[in-house]
Amino acid sequence: MQIFKKLMIISLLSSFHCAIYAEPASTQHRVVAPKCLLKKINATYTTLASSKNLHFIETNDAGIDALIEAKQNQTTPCGGFMDVTHAWENDGKKMNANHNAKSFLAAYETFPKTSLTTSYSIKYPTEVATLLKQSNPPYMWTRLQGLSSYKDRYSRSDNGVKAAQEIKAEVEAMAKNHGRDDVSTYFVTTGSYKQPSVVVKIGTSNQPGVVIGAHIDTLSSTFENKPGADDDGSGTVTVLEVARTLLSSGMHFNKPIYLIWYAAEEVGLVGSQYVVDDFKQKNIPVSAVMQFDMTAYAHKNDLTMWLYDDYTNKELTAYVETLINTYVKTPVKHDKCGYACSDHASWTQKGYNASMPFEASFRTDNPDIHTSRDTMEKLSLAHMTNFAKLGLAFAVELAEPSN
Ligand code: BES
Ligand code: ZN
Repeated sequence: MQIFKKLMIISLLSSFHCAIYAEPASTQHRVVAPKCLLKKINATYTTLASSKNLHFIETNDAGIDALIEAKQNQTTPCGGFMDVTHAWENDGKKMNANHNAKSFLAAYETFPKTSLTTSYSIKYPTEVATLLKQSNPPYMWTRLQGLSSYKDRYSRSDNGVKAAQEIKAEVEAMAKNHGRDDVSTYFVTTGSYKQPSVVVKIGTSNQPGVVIGAHIDTLSSTFENKPGADDDGSGTVTVLEVARTLLSSGMHFNKPIYLIWYAAEEVGLVGSQYVVDDFKQKNIPVSAVMQFDMTAYAHKNDLTMWLYDDYTNKELTAYVETLINTYVKTPVKHDKCGYACSDHASWTQKGYNASMPFEASFRTDNPDIHTSRDTMEKLSLAHMTNFAKLGLAFAVELAEPSN
């Protein structure tokens, strides 16, 4: 009887506690951000743990907006932030019973060792050459016109959702027109953001696949339009061109090719973290990842392709360099962002081999991204076309043609 009474009281108390203190999940964010960026923000946050350069904080939507603004206004770059709400809620809880912030941050800063199962080599020059001949630059340009005519593709806006739906519908139409029955498409939801990521699987095998991706979203157009032509309309269209060429070619592969358009990158790599988590949960093996984020601005008309060496896999990056030398035949150089600057970081952090070919060096990239001036007339179709060719070579070599 006593025990029963106690239990009643406990359960009453805990439901009372929930009703009063539960905050709507959508306004709560756990974020890892550099200390130098946090110094500049004028919003409330609580520090849960710290390391040498980073704070792991709890904040709300206003905090995210303040981080974005601080990042925009910085004169000397001090890095971006990552919204790790979803990871904290999942892995964080699994990690230990106390849901310990310090060990979460430590785990965030150490990447799991990648298990390299594929040996990267050049094996299919004939098949790659066949596909490269079918590249269609005017299609890319027209498609980029469409994407950059939205006033934004913000991850919390209806436009952002429309852009994702449009990409999914377009690839479905391509598959249908070419009578392909081995193409599947799906959305991956993005927590409290309404924009979903789009995943297209070409092929039906469950062997380790190839991932090629770009992010759909831009920042919000509250203050000015965000055409996002280069960031990341260019990458979005680069991946669409890979889809178009592969699906119209009639070529089939032993291994699956995943083409992914991520949601909510600009707000802390949120969409890609949900996608990677979805791959993990479904146990989908992946041998190599390529991220296309900004592929069309050629500084002083220089068509050098830059390979980024942080948050990426060294062997895979060396292989991408070989692909460029073999198939694209344009100069290659290396640089770094210095922080987790795009969705490749979400894969690297979970132990996948990722690469990031980029339009320019970090210092000479497009100066107009994140503004209303990120428009098409500054962009080079030749540069963007080279990235699509690289994506095709990457897909064909690693997915292994079967016919
Ligand atoms: N496309 C940029 C990343 C970028 C910009 C790479 C310039 C190299 C040079 C991306 O969309 C972006 O804006 N990333 C944020 C970080 C993100 C985690 C919020 C950034 O770089 O500040
Ligand atoms: Zn950006």
